[in-house]
Order: sequence, then C-alpha cells, then structure tokens
Amino acid sequence: MTKATRWAWIISLVAITGAVLVLSFLLSIATNNRELYERHYAWLFWVNVTVAAFLVLVIGAAAVRLLLRVQRGKFGSRMLLKLAAPLLIGDGLPPGAQVLDACAAPGGKTAHLLELADVDLLAIDSDPARLQRVADTLRRLSLQARTAAADAATPAAWWDGRPFDAILLDAPCTASGIVRRHPDVRWLRRPGDIPALAKTQARLLEALWPTLKPGGRLLYCTCSVFKAEGQDQIDAFLQRRSDASLAKHPPSPGHLLPLPDNGDEARSPAIGASPDGFYYALLKKT
Ligand SMILES: C[S@@+](CC[C@H](N)C(=O)[O-])C[C@H]1O[C@@H](n2cnc3c(N)ncnc32)[C@H](O)[C@@H]1O
Repeated sequence: MTKATRWAWIISLVAITGAVLVLSFLLSIATNNRELYERHYAWLFWVNVTVAAFLVLVIGAAAVRLLLRVQRGKFGSRMLLKLAAPLLIGDGLPPGAQVLDACAAPGGKTAHLLELADVDLLAIDSDPARLQRVADTLRRLSLQARTAAADAATPAAWWDGRPFDAILLDAPCTASGIVRRHPDVRWLRRPGDIPALAKTQARLLEALWPTLKPGGRLLYCTCSVFKAEGQDQIDAFLQRRSDASLAKHPPSPGHLLPLPDNGDEARSPAIGASPDGFYYALLKKT
C-alpha cells in the first residue's frame, strides 16, 4: 500500500466515523423520542463501533510499523540514502538539466532526484530485471525519466553525445556498510570481491567522466565501509585526472562510519549516529 493510499484510507475512515456520529446526533434530536430512535436508528451505533474499531486497527498497525522501523534503525539509513540527491543538486541545477543516474536500480535515489529537481534524467542499470523496478517506482510516483538497460562503463552504446550537467554514480560494491539490514552479505562475500569491485568502480568512474560537462558534478557513492571502495578509490581518481577535484560546496561527507579501519572519520554527529556505513564524494570537473 502506498503512503497516499494509506492516508486516503485513514482520512476516509475518520470522515465516515465523524459523519455517522453527527448523523446519529442529529437524528436523536430530530426524533426526540428515545424508543423511536432506538427502534429505527440503533444500527448507526454499530456502524460507528465497526468503523472506529477498523480505524483503531489501521492506526495501531501504522504505529507498530513505525516502532519496528525505529528499532531496525531504518530512519538513520534512510537519512543517509537521502543525502545523495541534495548533494548532487547542491545550490540547484538549471531546469531541464541533463542528469545521469548511472547505476539506478532499484531507483530510490532516482526518484528522490526527480522529486527535488526539474531535470531531464537518464537512468541506466546493467541488470534489465532490476531496471524494471526503477520503471515501476517511477510509474508509482508519477515521475518521468528515460531508462536504459546498459553497461554504464561503455557509453558508446547508450550516450547520445550531449554532456551531462550532473552524474550520480551509486556504484556496485560489497554492501559492507549495510550488513545489519542484509546479514547474508557477511556470508556471501569473498576476499577477492573487494579488489574486483574496486576495479569495476574505477572502470565506471573513468568511463563516465568524459560524459560530464566542464563545470559539471559527479557524485560517487557506495554503501561500503572499506576504504578501497571509498576514499582510496577517489584519491586514485584525483591523481589520474587533473580536471577533477573535490567540490567545496557542499563539502563531501566522505566515509560515514567511525570504524577502526577508516579512522575516526564520521563527519556529522547526526550522521555518525547511523548504524550503517556509506561513502560519498562529490567531484567537480574543471
Ligand atoms: C548500489 S546499487 C544502486 C542502488 C540505486 N542507486 C538506488 O538508490 O536504488 C548498484 C546497481 O548497479 C548496477 N550495476 C552494476 N554494474 C553496472 C554497470 N556496469 N553498469 C550499470 N549498472 C551497473 C547493479 O545492477 C545495481 O542495480
């Protein structure tokens, strides 16, 4: 059930309960005869009780859901996930700006970008089945974007040559920052995965950089706590590319967990409270 449908249900139930209450009150005055009222309109009382019980159930279920989300720390993670779009947009992108979401599925950040800015967005993902989830998310939220199932590292196959004003590269990674929510990650990962994924991330960065307009910005992010997929990756990229630098406004959050292998690098008290780990670097092209 979407948020809008849930609210529509709650508002309808409150409205029905209120209307029945008012109606029974008016009828009790109009009939001015308790026996007559009870004989003809007692059913209104039971309608009220049923609707009110349903309302209590709906509100109770919503409250339990909220408590479970707080308990699982979903708010902290959502807050971190929601950093991407505002970071990339910064002080604002011109209306109709060309934006690329290079590894878009399942589309959470794509949707957030489109909710915050009026941009012409191309969302691509190499996995067609996962890309379908982006299309579903956009349809459900009535948002518009072009989508393509493609390897972001081979722009020749999908790029029309118009440079992008902004690129979001939410790169495939070990997901080591979200093991609390995805415990299977701990068992599925192999030692060789970190260098292999770091290589893919470097390949994606290299391939996408030429598609960015001079003056444009690229947000690189991973849900990893490993430096190889975060700070080391960006340090190496900045060494290789003289036309790339870390943007100053807004500043890049960097690694968002004070873990032993990353040093004490949590940048914000609010963010540092999250139980999950992420890396964000906002690059500017000169
Ligand atoms: C971390 S997830 C992206 C999450 C997404 N940005 C969101 O917020 O919902 C990484 C995605 O990259 C995709 N991917 C992996 N390699 C890719 C490549 N070479 N080109 C495009 N997408 C790729 C994966 O299929 C996966 O959906």
